[in-house]
Amino acid sequence: MPVLRNITTPESSHKFAIWMSKWGLIAKDKLPDDERLSVEVWGKKVSNPICLAAGFDKHGEAIDSLFDLGFGYVEIGSVTPEPQPGNAQPRMFRLPKDKAIINRYGFNSDGHKLVELRLRDRVRRCLYHSAKLHPKITAALLASSPDGVSLSDALGINRSLKEDKLLGINLGKNKWSNSEDVQDYVRGIKTLGSYADVLVVNVSSPNTPGLRGLQRKGVFEKLLKEVIETRNSLHEPRPALLVKIAPDLSDEELEDIADAALNSGVDGVIVSNTTISRPNTLQSDTSLTSEAGGLSGPPVKPLSLKALRKIYQHTNGKLLLIGCGGISDAQDAIEYAKAGATLVQLYTSFGYDGVGKARELKDDILRELKDKKWSEIIGEQWK
Ligand SMILES: Cc1cc2nc3c(=O)[nH]c(=O)nc-3n(C[C@H](O)[C@H](O)[C@H](O)COP(=O)(O)O)c2cc1C
Repeated sequence: MPVLRNITTPESSHKFAIWMSKWGLIAKDKLPDDERLSVEVWGKKVSNPICLAAGFDKHGEAIDSLFDLGFGYVEIGSVTPEPQPGNAQPRMFRLPKDKAIINRYGFNSDGHKLVELRLRDRVRRCLYHSAKLHPKITAALLASSPDGVSLSDALGINRSLKEDKLLGINLGKNKWSNSEDVQDYVRGIKTLGSYADVLVVNVSSPNTPGLRGLQRKGVFEKLLKEVIETRNSLHEPRPALLVKIAPDLSDEELEDIADAALNSGVDGVIVSNTTISRPNTLQSDTSLTSEAGGLSGPPVKPLSLKALRKIYQHTNGKLLLIGCGGISDAQDAIEYAKAGATLVQLYTSFGYDGVGKARELKDDILRELKDKKWSEIIGEQWK
């Protein structure tokens, strides 16, 4: 990715990186994860807390290669119910002086059906390759479970199809859907829920008109009620259900979100998505910073971290939080953990620094932790 960055547009190099990943043409992190990095979430072990945020693999095309890079959790999407092209290009801008990105993709998505087919195909391929049974026996097993999902569930395999790793699917809304309508998420949970260890309801992308309005108090409570009910109607094992929020909310709005999330029984909150603000710390030219869209990378970190701290404090650490926004090195990740994040996600620094990012972070975190475990530093700042 760093090489491609200098010769193509940001969107073409992103597409090429996905293509390379899809065909397994990228490096692998072959080392096992150190036990001190493991953490338990929703009754499952995750071998390390470094996660890939939504938006990199929007259509679920490169899941296995991305796990092979060493992430503990990979989140695909956002996926919208119907396919849609997103906004006109150019819609992604690099701000190298800030190591940041502005994007206004606007949920370009293959849609639920195609992504579901891709996920189904992945499960079947995995079962064929890993069953190590006689082909006829494998075929007979798959005939009893045409999508392969119930078979892998019966075998107690994570939906990631990897030991101690989790697959998340991030759900978005079509541009033309009524802004307060939650049916797009309900459809996503029903169609894609049985392929995910974790489902994420994204109410915070700045590039779909009206979407962030779903974070308003009454609307948010209604949304949570409906999505939780739908998730609870899925067959066991049910995916965890998270919401992903914006970093631009006031303290009062964050408290309302924290209360609603806690009361609804949602399994956690991802803090946060990109920001619509343009912090005055930005070094890049105004010709770039004035592009419309969400800003990500280091400039968003103070906002995301502040929001995460507010929610952790307000709920006395009772909500599971995933920290996301401007995580570039081990110190950033540890700062989020100490503030209360159980897992941390990144996108922009992965785009800038390339395929070795997860391994580099894991090694550096272990050095910083010294004899401690990651799980021991979660929320340490408040103890
Ligand atoms: C190009 C790009 C596309 C993104 N697309 C999505 C998306 O489809 N859904 C979503 O929830 N977040 C999306 N995000 C937001 C990221 O998942 C993440 O929340 C945000 O970038 C902050 O993390 P970072 O500073 O590590 O990039 C996108 C970010 C970027 C840079």
